[in-house]
Amino acid sequence: MTLLTWNHACTVGVRAMDDQHGILMDTMNELRLAVMRGSSRAELCEVLDRLIEFTRMHFHSEEQLLMRNGFPALGRHCAEHRTILEQMQQAAQHLHLGDGTPLRPLLNGLRERFVLHVDRMDREYGGWLNARGVS
Ligand SMILES: [Fe+2]
Ligand SMILES: [Fe+2]
Repeated sequence: MTLLTWNHACTVGVRAMDDQHGILMDTMNELRLAVMRGSSRAELCEVLDRLIEFTRMHFHSEEQLLMRNGFPALGRHCAEHRTILEQMQQAAQHLHLGDGTPLRPLLNGLRERFVLHVDRMDREYGGWLNARGVS
């Protein structure tokens, strides 16, 4: 089983954002473990809803930071955030409905998308902010 371990490669270089990414990765790991253990739908819903809530908070706080500092690629970044949130909400909808949609591929897709986002787009603003004295 592969878990999302927090390592240096995932660091974007802005402390508050790195802390939030760590919490998000922990929550995704918790969800993955819950799926592997065959936890009840209610338990899975609780973890996924918590993940969505925290992701929403994180995206908001990241977008505020980028806006305050005049980050040039903000529009593209926000659009990607919206897509990730929609994907999470779709997974939650299937889960709440209990319509039999297999969860593992959905969750794997979410994880991959999130890790790629941090690794590419978030690291891009990290370097940009560091160059302007924000860390
Ligand atoms: Fe982001
Ligand atoms: Fe982020």
